[in-house]
Amino acid sequence: RPFRRWTHSLPQYSSVSEVDLAHFSKILPPSAILSTLSPSITPASELEPFNNDWMNKYHGRSTTVLKPRSTKEVSEIVKWCNQRRIAVVPQGGNTGLVGGSVPIQDELVVNLGNMSNIRSFDDASGILVADAGCILQSLSDYLVPLNHVVPLDLGAKGSCQIGGNVSTNAGGLRLLRYGSLHGSVLGLEVVLPDGTILDQLTTLRKDNTGYDLKQLFIGAEGTLGIVTGVSILTAAAPHASNNVMLSLPAFDNVLPLYKEVKRQLSEILSAFEFIDRRAYDLAVKHGQGRALDDREVEGAECFVLVETSGSNREHDEEKLNKLLENLMEEEPSLINSGVLATSPAQFASLWAIREGLTEAMSKEGKAYKYDISVPLHKFKEVIDTTREHLRSKGLLHPDAVKHVVGYGHVGDGNLHLNVVAEAYTPEIEAALEPFVYELVAKYKGSISAEHGIGVMKTHALPYSKNSVSIEWMRKIKNLFDPNGIMNPGKPIFQDGNGLAIK
Ligand code: FAD
Ligand code: MLT
Ligand code: ZN
Repeated sequence: RPFRRWTHSLPQYSSVSEVDLAHFSKILPPSAILSTLSPSITPASELEPFNNDWMNKYHGRSTTVLKPRSTKEVSEIVKWCNQRRIAVVPQGGNTGLVGGSVPIQDELVVNLGNMSNIRSFDDASGILVADAGCILQSLSDYLVPLNHVVPLDLGAKGSCQIGGNVSTNAGGLRLLRYGSLHGSVLGLEVVLPDGTILDQLTTLRKDNTGYDLKQLFIGAEGTLGIVTGVSILTAAAPHASNNVMLSLPAFDNVLPLYKEVKRQLSEILSAFEFIDRRAYDLAVKHGQGRALDDREVEGAECFVLVETSGSNREHDEEKLNKLLENLMEEEPSLINSGVLATSPAQFASLWAIREGLTEAMSKEGKAYKYDISVPLHKFKEVIDTTREHLRSKGLLHPDAVKHVVGYGHVGDGNLHLNVVAEAYTPEIEAALEPFVYELVAKYKGSISAEHGIGVMKTHALPYSKNSVSIEWMRKIKNLFDPNGIMNPGKPIFQDGNGLAIK
């Protein structure tokens, strides 16, 4: 398979000029324009949060960030950019982990943060229609008194936006229960690369009238247009939620445990998350959640966080307690011990260990993050093989790679392989890539289970998509965006745009 590194050079697009800025000033108020160009002259430091990604791994040089307040404003901006051949980076909460949300060069950033109105909610159908810039946590908070939940939850919920979630097809912690956004998103409003507003903001559960165009924008990473509105099916809030952190003596027990948990908890099982020992230790080191007692972690090779969500507290607790009893009585037992949350604070604290892993990795060092789909029984092998490979290259020491850890969504077959280094260096990257992608291809997995391709994996797409698929992706991109202005270089290369993948 080909593996060629892309040098992040894009064809010549027009840079934003003072003339463009003058035009944007006719569309937006001064408070919605951040630019280092005259006459706006915002200090460059104020543009930093928009030019650098969450990991501080990818850095752009945009001079201008626009924060439109309506779909019409987005449309007018994009129409102008298309005419002027100004490249545009749609940006939500900028929590993406593959460098897709920041410019590569000096593209214009269109940030959706000012579009945060809830448009409607129907408490009979549970269908919510919201501006794309609504923060995921705000949507969850809005739904609490209405007894509904967003069918999506992730550690970045305090910053990520629903438009960003849709554009990355984010998976997260509730996918096991509610499925992917390809199922729960019912409609979208999108500003296409020529400024046309595509209104597919339907609130219908069923609509079999020809091609389902909205699916193209779910996971398109801002390359086909800017999502401005989302219609999503929310779920009835569970009346009872419980969780338990189980410690396991060996990774080999994870799969049998998963089968047993599914069998015994059946319809009330809502999450089954895996954390290996090294990842857990880093979470504790960096103060994420409440650490388990020494006796609870002793001899543990890994942990599993199980959550139940149901409608009858007594029934759910009985089922969960019975499961734990059965597990403890078995000889040999699949688990060493379990910590059952008995209060909302403990429930949150156990989740905080899991949700805090991403932040813990970043506090510990510079994380190379691979979010891959591989068969469940290969999770440990992938982690161990990668660690040994780095050791064989002489890179496994505190000045280079400090840790190779794994965690992930077992129910979704999604492993998060994290290589935590002292610094991002070409030497470590060259040792990891294509090594990791080849490993994934060997197991017929996917190089991105949920984070997307972004700028990080554009060159590696052939490991997960064959040439016919890539060719049709490119045709679709060319059709929607013939001038290639929408988030260029991510996640596929257009004709004459960067390095062609053969
Ligand atoms: P951004 O980061 O701003 O953008 C991401 C991509 O979408 C970019 O390509 C951007 O151009 C495009 N985009 C953004 N908004 C729009 C729009 N309105 N229209 C068109 N394109 C747009 N991801 C998971 O899948 N599962 C997880 O469990 C998970 N947990 C995370 C935990 C932490 C602590 C962090 C930091 C990240 C996590 N992520 C996870 C990754 C990330 O949060 C998600 O990908 C999220 O969906 C990105 O949303 P955002 O609003 O921040 O988008
Ligand atoms: C997660 O599952 O925690 C997220 O996808 C983020 C990460 O991979 O760190
Ligand atoms: Zn994840």
